[in-house]
Parts: sequence; C-alpha cells; structure tokens
Amino acid sequence: MKLQVENFEEYEKAYQYSVENPEGFWGEIAENFVWKKKWNKVLDWNFKEPKIEWYQGATLNITENCLDRHLLDKADQPAIVWESNDPNEANKTYTYRQLHQEVCTFAHVLKQNGAKKGDRICLYMPMVPELAIAVLACARIGAIHSVVFGGFSAQSIADRIQDAQCSMVVTADGSHRGNKEIFLKHIMDEAIISCPCVKKVIVLERSKSAVSMIKGRDLFWHSEMDRMRSLGLTDCPAEEMDAEDPLFILYTSGSTGKPKGVVHTCGGYMVFTAYTFQNIFQYQPGEMYFCTADIGWITGHSYIVYGPLIQGANSLIFEGIPTFPDAGRFWDIVDKHDVNILYTAPTAIRSLMQFGLDYVKDKNLSSLRVLGSVGEPINEEAWNWYNEHIGKGKCPIVDTWWQTETGGILISPLANITPTKPCYATLPLPGVQPILVDEKGDEITGNGVSGNLCIKFPWPGILRTTYGDHERCRTNYFATYENLYFTGDGCMRDEDGYYRITGRVDDVMNISGHRIGTAEVENAINMFTDVIESAVVGYPHDIKGQGIYAYVIMASTPKDPVMARKDIAATVSQIIGAIARPDKIQFVTGLPKTRSGKIMRRILRKIAEGDINNLGDTSTLLDPSVVDKIKEERL
Ligand code: WTA
Repeated sequence: MKLQVENFEEYEKAYQYSVENPEGFWGEIAENFVWKKKWNKVLDWNFKEPKIEWYQGATLNITENCLDRHLLDKADQPAIVWESNDPNEANKTYTYRQLHQEVCTFAHVLKQNGAKKGDRICLYMPMVPELAIAVLACARIGAIHSVVFGGFSAQSIADRIQDAQCSMVVTADGSHRGNKEIFLKHIMDEAIISCPCVKKVIVLERSKSAVSMIKGRDLFWHSEMDRMRSLGLTDCPAEEMDAEDPLFILYTSGSTGKPKGVVHTCGGYMVFTAYTFQNIFQYQPGEMYFCTADIGWITGHSYIVYGPLIQGANSLIFEGIPTFPDAGRFWDIVDKHDVNILYTAPTAIRSLMQFGLDYVKDKNLSSLRVLGSVGEPINEEAWNWYNEHIGKGKCPIVDTWWQTETGGILISPLANITPTKPCYATLPLPGVQPILVDEKGDEITGNGVSGNLCIKFPWPGILRTTYGDHERCRTNYFATYENLYFTGDGCMRDEDGYYRITGRVDDVMNISGHRIGTAEVENAINMFTDVIESAVVGYPHDIKGQGIYAYVIMASTPKDPVMARKDIAATVSQIIGAIARPDKIQFVTGLPKTRSGKIMRRILRKIAEGDINNLGDTSTLLDPSVVDKIKEERL
C-alpha cells in the first residue's frame, strides 16, 4: 500500500481497512521503509501489563531511512536549512550527503569516547544543526538519546541524567535566544556534580563564551570531529537494531511526582512519524518545511528531525524566538526561505497577534501552502487570525492533537483533504481508534457528546514504557480505564463526528504549550525556606493559554510580600526552570481541604479563574471559612 492518501475517499478507505485489519494495514505501510530484516508478526499487544510490540523480529536502523536511502536520489538536496538567532548571521544548509557524513563522523566521536548500543546519552543543546546531528548519531550507533530542553535548570537536568544513568553528555558553551544567552555548559557543570555516571562531555562551541573544560572528561566537538576526519572515520555502518529496541527517552510531566521518561522504540516510531508527517502535511518533493518547535520537545523529535528526514523533506531549523529582533521574525523567515509548510503553536500565534499587522503586512507569505498548529487547544480568535493574515484564507490549518506518549499525531485534518473547522482537530488518522468515556469508564457513543479521551487500540508510535519504572507507565496510562490508553484530555465529538480537544482533565498544566505538573511546581515552591504548604493550579492566560497560580502558606507572614514572591519564583526557576515560574502567588493561611486532608483543587481552580460565585458544594470541607478568606484576597 502506498504511504500517502490523496483524497478523502482514500482516507476513508485507509481508515476502514486500518480498523478492520490493523496488522494488514500497518504491515503494508511498513513496506515503504528500509529494514535490515522483515518482521515475523506485525503486532503483539495487551494494555493490561501493558505489552506492546510492533514488527516483532524485524531489524533496522532509523538513520538508514533518514539518510542513506536518500543518497540514491536526493544526495544533493537540502535536508536541513538552519536559520540563526541573529538575522545577520549566514544560514547553513546541509544536503542529505553532507548530513549523512556529519552524522557518521559524530557517530565515531561517540564510539571513540566509549559509547555503545544501549547506552544513554543526554543532549542539552541550542537549536543548531549539530543537535539534529547528535540525535541521529546516537541512533546510528544504537545509543538511546535523552534530549533535555535548553530552558531546564541544572537540577532538572541532573534528575533526568540520574534517572536514565547517562554515561555521556553532549552540550554547548552557550545558546542565544533573542537577546539572552543561556550558559549551557555552566548549567551542565552544575548538574554533573551530582551525576557520577557521566564519563564524557562533548562541548560544541556556539556562543564563544568561556567554559571550564575538565581534563579527561570534557572534549570540544570540533576537535573531536577533526580527529575523526584525520583518522578517515567519516562513514559509519548503522547498528542493526531490533524494532523494539529503545530509540530515545524523553521526559515529560505527569500529574504526580517527577517527570517520567517516556520510551519510544525504533520500528514503530519510524513508521508512525513518517506516515503521519506525509499524510497530514501532504509534503511534496522540494518543499520547504518549517516547524518552530524546539527539538527538546516531542514535536521537534518527530516533526523536525525524524518524520521529515525519513520522508526526504527539507526541514528548517530555527535557533531563535518569534519576537527577536521583532515580532515579524517568523514572517521574515517564511519570506526569505520560501517556506511552504509552517507548523507552530497557538501560544506563538497569540503572542504575535498582539503586535498587530504591521509586522506581517510587508512580508511575502505567498509561498505558504499549509499551516499547522500543535501543543494546546487553539482558540477561535487565534485560528481566524492565522487563517486570514498568515494563510490569506487559502492554506488549510491542520490542528494536530497528540502527546509525548503518542510519538506522533493521532487526530488531525489531512491538508487539503479533510474539511477543517476552527478549533477542531477533526478526525483520527488511519490506525487510530479514539473513544470517549465517562468517569466510570463507560463508552459514550454517538455524536454531539463530551467525555474523557481514550484510545482503544495501539498504533505503532505509542509509548512502550516509562524508563526504569514500567509500573508507573501502567498506572498512569493503562489503569484508569480497563483496556484503554487514557490520554488525560477532555474532548467533545460534534454532530459531524469531529473531535475537539478541550484540555487536560488531570493535574497537568499547559503553559505556552509546555507541559508542567502541578505537583512538580508545588514541590519546588515547598523547597523555599519558610513555606509550609502550597497548591498550584492553572488559570486562563491570554497569551500562554494557561498561567500558573500558586496558593502558598508561609510559616510567618512575609514582611515584604513582593520580595517574597520574587524569591519563590526564583526558587522555582532554580529547581525546574524559568518555564515553571508561577505567574501569581497568593499568600494564604489555609487551603480548602476535605476531612480526609485532600486539597480541593476544583475550588482553587475556580477562584484562580475568577469564577468565585460558582464554587459548588463546599460543605464537605474541613473548614469552609478558609475559602472566603482566599476569595477576598484573590489576585
Ligand atoms: C495538549 C505535544 C489541543 C493536550 C505534542 C495533550 C493539544 C498535551 C493539542 C500533550 C491540540 C497537544 N489541541 N490540545 N492540537 N496538541 N495538546 O506531551 O492537552 O507536550 O495532552 O505533546 O498537549 O503535550 P505534549
């Protein structure tokens, strides 16, 4: 079966076949890729343990699909085009041939420094081509990459390195984001103090700021690459990987505890990212594709690196931020590089909207053919603005719903195939079987209904486990409802059977499209001296989608509340990273708790939202009077 559906009828046919005969469907789709050995069985699964295995017995290397196979017909076409944070710095282009060579050379750097199949390697880097090269070099030798977003703190990095027991780290001296420099190596040095498992650190020179280099441990990227070249090590055979060998770990927040390491494996992830990329964006050869995400998040993994490269696309990597040097930067990039497909987040659209049309009006956006949205529900105003002012009413908007755990997009229009509707992710991809359930787990059938979104059958990109703790994977995703994967999202299905995701129904917040757990932020706040207890909830925020509202009980009333708030925010930045800084901190003397001691977040959420006349039943509270006090002093 060909990979790409080309019209709605073909979509419907593919969908039907994928449900009636999932193994037949995904077996035929998998024929479109390069395998070292074919599978014995397409799928073996149960959601009870869970145990999910795709393409049993098959072997492959995903980088042969990203790189080697394109050398036959696309060797001199661009694979990656890079745009610097600084608009005056020259672009860089890597053709498939060049990228192949860089990846192979860096794969040797990893090997020569002791890395081998199955080892975990932490990547903490700016958005430069070398990050994609490092990702692919790990995959080349079968090492498991764990990319940590450049905005996380030393403590967060250390937690992730320790959890995965990474033996190697790849980082850079610093990273430029707008006017700011983030001193990555310095932060990494602080993290490594508590990580004896790290034996080698490879440091890319990017910002040219001074770094400390420890003899025997730290090595410069460029000198190591030169050393490999002088040894003639610029080609590197691809390690033969089992389809179910881990490809990478990516940490993501849940409703409890520390972030968990979501594990994706080689075969299914490859098939699923390529299939979804091709069908959703309807990528055509030669087109310029620009996804504005960071490779530190799943969107960057699946739709900057793997999906596009497997499909031989030209993927644009942008180092900077949408508002530097001004709010026209995205449109400058579209204009300059003739971008055909733009994939960004609602939070970016909202933040650019507020600057008005001056930054859009003189830009030539006529190259655009498809627009994408990801990461959070898109509000109607942002959808319309994107449609009208960026797409000029002629580009379909693919509102793609998915998660770190799903590996790739599950519900989305296919560009120019599925009729779109503002704010709707529309219909499931072939192979994806969504169902809505009520609190008890009973299926809600029919249309014009809402419920909790679950998926009842595995797809090739589903997570296999959470690193080092399979039980956590089971309880988080497969134990809420029997035999279903629970997404944590609420969803409605309208009269046309179209899906609209309404947001998380658990204690996970979505701040500017970044997932942050309330418990994580509370733990960080509680580290601040004098804090006795805290409760954190999300509240609607015009730009970020959600903001963080913290209720904090202090041992004694702060003398300077403004200063105390700043200090608490600084503590959270230090422990997690600036993305988790609370927007509002209200000092309270008590929290609404049930008689069994459980914080009633529902009430705190309503107060944070400003919906204070509609708090529902508070009679079961231990002390209902705390609610009045919190209401009165609300920020
Ligand atoms: C939310 C990002 C509405 C959702 C790819 C999900 C969305 C969480 C959409 C996963 C969308 C993502 N519409 N909500 N198109 N896309 N979400 O793991 O709540 O960073 O559960 O993956 O983002 O966030 P994650």
